[in-house]
Amino acid sequence: MKKIFLNLLKQPITNSYLSKINNRVIKKEFFYNLSVAYDNKTHLVSLSKPVNPKMQFTDKYAHRASQSITMLKSFKKISKNLKKRFKPKKTLEIGSNDGVFLKNFKKKEIIAVEPCLNLAKITKKKGYLTYPEFWTKKLSKKIFKKHNGLDLIYAANTICHIPNLREVFDAISISLDKNGVFVFEDPYIGAVLKMNSYDQFYDEHVHLFSLLSISKLLKDSNLRIFDIDLLDTHGGSIRFYVCKNISKFTVKEKVKLLKKKEIKQELNKFKTYKKFSLRVKKSKKELLTLLKKIKLKGKKVISYGASYKSATIFNYCNIGTELIEYATDTTKNKQGKFTPGKHIPIRSPNGEIEDNVDYAFLGAWNFVKEIKKKEKNFLKRGGKFISHVPNVKLIGL
Ligand code: TMP
Repeated sequence: MKKIFLNLLKQPITNSYLSKINNRVIKKEFFYNLSVAYDNKTHLVSLSKPVNPKMQFTDKYAHRASQSITMLKSFKKISKNLKKRFKPKKTLEIGSNDGVFLKNFKKKEIIAVEPCLNLAKITKKKGYLTYPEFWTKKLSKKIFKKHNGLDLIYAANTICHIPNLREVFDAISISLDKNGVFVFEDPYIGAVLKMNSYDQFYDEHVHLFSLLSISKLLKDSNLRIFDIDLLDTHGGSIRFYVCKNISKFTVKEKVKLLKKKEIKQELNKFKTYKKFSLRVKKSKKELLTLLKKIKLKGKKVISYGASYKSATIFNYCNIGTELIEYATDTTKNKQGKFTPGKHIPIRSPNGEIEDNVDYAFLGAWNFVKEIKKKEKNFLKRGGKFISHVPNVKLIGL
């Protein structure tokens, strides 16, 4: 049974950056109520009413995974490790975005699946076989018919976007070779609880996974987990290594240890999530108090990154241009537009943070190391970052 523990109020679709002409929003905005539920049967944490994926993964999808140096490095490293460990002859990536993972493979070794047509076009143009579709059993059967069993299926920050996980895992079971491996990574609910990063909940993050929940869900599709990695990426992620029940892989000790830890942390109890929701309310109060105090002193505050995550914060906390003057973002097709819901203008960073800025809210807090390195001059002249994780605080030199 699913039970709601968190209400993040009315939220827009995070990927719908708005264009304005003559100061008038030209696109009518869609809002939905973002509430999050825990299912005591599967231990899965999910949005109680996900948005229709066809409204999200359109031909105007803004996010480009290749924009961040951290992510470029991370995909290079994981592809190298996967090739070394599993020696795949045929690999498939679900949610290939702009090809940030594909580029580490030879063109004939990898198949891409990407429902956002603008992104699928990019990888097709680069010469990768790309299916511009959602990952379904139907597509999986089509791929199996053409290419036989796959040795490796990989997905990063994709599976948690898909409402129907049974369909995803059944489709994996269909196209995976007997000893094939399915590796996927997504933000980890354990890290969200630890970091109080409630902004990990937005329309695209339909689920936040634990080892306990994924272990349960895979069973119905005759799949099992044999290894995991806990990662720093995106503020704390988990990577699952999955195989068919009948395959040769033995379960690593790490898996058993994490399962024990999750039980100890009570990730299988509703009350854990309810307590988290109280911490979220406190975080909102503290962030608003801090921003208002800074503003009263006449200081200039911007947002560093117009990330999807920050849309949850701005809309939940009701933060608009009265508190944050503008956001900078390196993603070209976000620049010149306005953040969804709160309509904060988005600019190109044009090098470093401008001289007249006193505070920068970390909209991209998961890249804090990379950002601090880039913005040494801002910190040297006394500039401060504002972060809400794990608690509301200022970050200086
Ligand atoms: P993400 O957490 O969903 O990847 O979003 C991070 C956003 O922040 C993305 O739009 C790119 C942006 N960004 C910057 O503007 N500057 C930076 O230095 C970094 C690392 C990210």
